Amino acid sequence: MKIAVIGTGYVGLVSGTCFAETGNTVTCVDIDQAKIERLVQGEITIYEPGLEKMFLKNLRDCRLKFTTDLKSGIQGAQIVFLALPTPSGEDGSADLKYVLGVADQLGYLLEDYKVIVDKSTVPVGTADKVRAAIAKHAKVEFDVVSNPEFLREGVAVEDFMKPDRVVIGASSDRAKKVMGDLYAPFVRQGNPVIYMDEKSAELTKYAANSFLATKISFMNEIAQLCERLGADVDMVRRGIGSDKRIGKRFLFPGIGYGGSCFPKDVQALIKSSEEVNYDFQILKSVERVNEIQKTHLIPKIEAHFNHDLKGKHFALWGLAFKPNTDDIREAPALYIIQSLLNSGATISAYDPEAMNNVKVLLGDSVKYSMNPYETLKGADALIIATEWSEFRIPDFEKIEQILKNKVIFDGRNLYSRDDLKEFGIEYYSIGR
Ligand code: UDX
Repeated sequence: MKIAVIGTGYVGLVSGTCFAETGNTVTCVDIDQAKIERLVQGEITIYEPGLEKMFLKNLRDCRLKFTTDLKSGIQGAQIVFLALPTPSGEDGSADLKYVLGVADQLGYLLEDYKVIVDKSTVPVGTADKVRAAIAKHAKVEFDVVSNPEFLREGVAVEDFMKPDRVVIGASSDRAKKVMGDLYAPFVRQGNPVIYMDEKSAELTKYAANSFLATKISFMNEIAQLCERLGADVDMVRRGIGSDKRIGKRFLFPGIGYGGSCFPKDVQALIKSSEEVNYDFQILKSVERVNEIQKTHLIPKIEAHFNHDLKGKHFALWGLAFKPNTDDIREAPALYIIQSLLNSGATISAYDPEAMNNVKVLLGDSVKYSMNPYETLKGADALIIATEWSEFRIPDFEKIEQILKNKVIFDGRNLYSRDDLKEFGIEYYSIGR
């Protein structure tokens, strides 16, 4: 098939590359000339494991093309994906100016039947708005479909190539058939393509992310309770997770969820609910719990140092909001850094991928180290904010030798408390 993908951000680039991988010819369109030039030269613009190799192969084989010209980009395409940003407005609602702006242009440009697909996470009712915006000027038939993505950063290629399910919100049989054919190679293992109406598809995306965020906030509250009652959240997690109705995954307590999706989607669903006079109480609590959890280590650190952090120096391992990404959007580490700096402490940080992004945001207010052990020199404590694999089995002897004060505050429960006792390191974690 011939496909156009409008927007070469994270979702657009992953989707475009993966569609090309199954033999389609994909043209990606973006207004950012500099970005398109880099992509044409074979320079990948996001960090995502496995993507670069696939991108280069499909670029070389001419199945993946890039342009800034919307008109030529959609020429001959049967399907046009909209993978455009939907930033949060001041009040938490999603701003649709990019999506509707392109929809408006498509109205003028359509010359033959095409399926226009909302791939961005958009509020319920957006497909109708996109349809209306195109219809204003369109002279040919078209369909609008909602096809939300469920990509996790760090494993997005795998999630795309072997999805648990594909959700297609479409009301016309013609569009359903086109979309079904496109996704057939991705669901060979028998995972379902679930057809529904557009609104249900739009809500499915928000409901999925909000439910996962709810699981996390719930476990973070159980962890708070464990700390107060003297129970061990690891045991409780295993105890409840083996019930198939609950499931083992996404039950890990920590210092809160971050990233580009959960915080934004939870907020947007609260906002959408308000707009139809519904008070989504659980989600409001989910958000509040997460706010508290992001700095949950701070009171522990303060108590340990008798509420005086002035002049203290901290080693910080992990800056990205989760492992295998350089993404620092809503990363708990940033909240910890801010709080420590406000208290007059200094910080040496290390992250395998995200340090450049933090440098852009925070400049020299933090010292950056080339490896995890370098951060420990002269440090009063080590704080762990992201569970990168390389932090999982560190050289504890070395840590003990270099740290000035032998104490670790672990926001991701990476270590066994017994192990650390053996090395003479004081250890604070979450819910244990
Ligand atoms: C998420 C969804 O998983 C994906 O389907 C959606 O399309 C985009 O949003 P992503 O933001 O990449 O993906 O991250 P994910 O791996 O889901 O983790 C989200 C956050 O939850 C991270 O901050 C992570 O640290 C936190 N988390 C996850 C926990 O605190 N505990 C857990 O048990 C799992």
